[in-house]
Amino acid sequence: MNDSAASTPTSIDPLFDISDKVAIVTGASSGLGRQFATALARRGAYVVAVARRSDPLKALADEHPGRILAVSADVTKDDQVQDVVDRAVEWRGAIDIVVNNAGITSIQPAEDEDAATFSRVVDVNLVALYRLCHLAGRRMLEQGQGTIINIASINGLVASWSIPEAGYCASKGAVISLTRELAAQWADRGVRVNALAPGYFRSELTEELFTSSAGERRFRRMPMRRGGREDELNGALVFLASNASSYMTGQTLVIDGGWTSV
Ligand SMILES: NC(=O)c1ccc[n+]([C@@H]2O[C@H](COP(=O)([O-])OP(=O)(O)OC[C@H]3O[C@@H](n4cnc5c(N)ncnc54)[C@H](OP(=O)(O)O)[C@@H]3O)[C@@H](O)[C@H]2O)c1
Repeated sequence: MNDSAASTPTSIDPLFDISDKVAIVTGASSGLGRQFATALARRGAYVVAVARRSDPLKALADEHPGRILAVSADVTKDDQVQDVVDRAVEWRGAIDIVVNNAGITSIQPAEDEDAATFSRVVDVNLVALYRLCHLAGRRMLEQGQGTIINIASINGLVASWSIPEAGYCASKGAVISLTRELAAQWADRGVRVNALAPGYFRSELTEELFTSSAGERRFRRMPMRRGGREDELNGALVFLASNASSYMTGQTLVIDGGWTSV
């Protein structure tokens, strides 16, 4: 899927058609979230882009007039996430797609990572993700349809090890487990829940990996011997967001250049 294409969708395979669907994407002020919001908007979806920083959100919305609505919110706050859900429904009358992407990490050995730091990471990566699943999921159940894509990580499946981040790994493993449970609870009511587990993609979160010699050594040890390119998650995203994955729920799609295959 080439994302340098123009904004207006043309001759889309109906299986992958997400035009006029209403999506919420969290963590859309940078990195993967910005990329996800852009990919959905370019395919004709209406996107509520959520993060705390308003300037980058506004810049993103300005690039896609009428398609992206910028809503500043802290996903760890109940009232602010409820406001996101309400704004989406007020704007377009439904919530069809949720991309639960906001995330943080703390890189330090476990002997230094205290419980408060661990909790802060879990609060954003897991509890806040659940908060939006819960609030948007209720709306989707009323509608009788919807698809939720939780952004996990390969570090929910394998250890991060030489980039020590205990809270991050724990939270991402839990996201995969939570995805299965929500999927099972809601499967016969039209709401699908899947997870996407990326390998390494360049962003504010992973900048050091892409610029350090330790990072370069890591990439040399994995099958494709490189990090993911900006648009290499878009195919999986659109697949999970569309009817192309209509019989799939509770699963985790791993996009990692073969990292976890060895
Ligand atoms: N990049 C990778 O290689 C990679 C690999 C596997 C998984 N992931 C996952 O992909 C997701 C995005 O990561 P990224 O690499 O794109 O990192 P990033 O560039 O640092 O983006 C993180 C996003 O989360 C938002 N965020 C953080 N705390 C928030 C809060 N309390 N409320 C609202 N928004 C909040 C940030 O926005 P504000 O600061 O403006 O609030 C930002 O937009 C994360 O869940 C990460 O674990 C990334």
